[in-house]
Amino acid sequence: MELLDGKVVSRGLKDSIAAEVAELKAQGKRVPFLVAVLVGDDDASKIYVANKDKACQEVGFGSTVLKFPADITEEFLLKEIDKLNKDPEVDGFIVQLPLPDHINESRIIEAIDPRKDVDGFHPTNTGRMVSGLPSFLPATPCGILELLKYYNIDTRGKHCVVIGRSNIVGRPMANLLSQKGIDCTVTICHSRTLNLAEEVRRADIVVSAVGSPRFVTADMIKPGAVVVDVGMNRLRSDQTKSGWKLVGDVDFENVAPKCSYITPVPGGVGLMTISSLIANTLRAYKKEIYAW
Ligand code: GUN
Repeated sequence: MELLDGKVVSRGLKDSIAAEVAELKAQGKRVPFLVAVLVGDDDASKIYVANKDKACQEVGFGSTVLKFPADITEEFLLKEIDKLNKDPEVDGFIVQLPLPDHINESRIIEAIDPRKDVDGFHPTNTGRMVSGLPSFLPATPCGILELLKYYNIDTRGKHCVVIGRSNIVGRPMANLLSQKGIDCTVTICHSRTLNLAEEVRRADIVVSAVGSPRFVTADMIKPGAVVVDVGMNRLRSDQTKSGWKLVGDVDFENVAPKCSYITPVPGGVGLMTISSLIANTLRAYKKEIYAW
């Protein structure tokens, strides 16, 4: 078993972006700028946004976190998005999800200018992705593909089972894995799937994005499979300073010995998500996807 080490791969991606930013600075040019919008005080969202902001600093991007209380109105948030859409200093921005229940998530996402939608969640970007056109790709699936590529994992003709059908991970992941050049045969499993364990046992590559600790157990894994764990579950722990411990969806201890490759949590997919977001922001700055 070999670890798919998100630390090593994300570091490499960030280093090459940092070198590009240093070159821009040396030429006296403006550097890329990312804004993260955080509504409310969900603990996990606060940590994710802080990590994204920190990564911007590491590579030399400008960045800001716009923090708003949970009780802002949808209209207020739409006006803030309009300002970001029009701000020439902002290359890309994200609205951290989930949003409070009274705010319509789809309406917010559709208000983002697709040219600044570095999360790749706007229907223009998802539509273009599904059609195989240039688009911003959602950061987590994109980061997972980078990880598989770095370790030369052959995906052609392989059977991949994606567990979870969210717009953020499961659906775009399944779509990208089936695209030309990656060429997996893909099954999507979800909460209504019958015989989920049986489906997963057929997989050469498993991507789990469920949000439930120890959901994927050793008996579900075909020997030699590649296992990608997207889960970021926070459990109470008396062994850490913070009182919390991060675990994935996969029962790592028992699954790892059966795999050819597996991502650790932490140190796997989460870091790749952040470096992919940084890469998307550089693409937005360079107008690589949309020329207008
Ligand atoms: N919530 C969980 N993952 C993500 C992400 O990648 N982007 C945003 N905006 N919100 C999230």
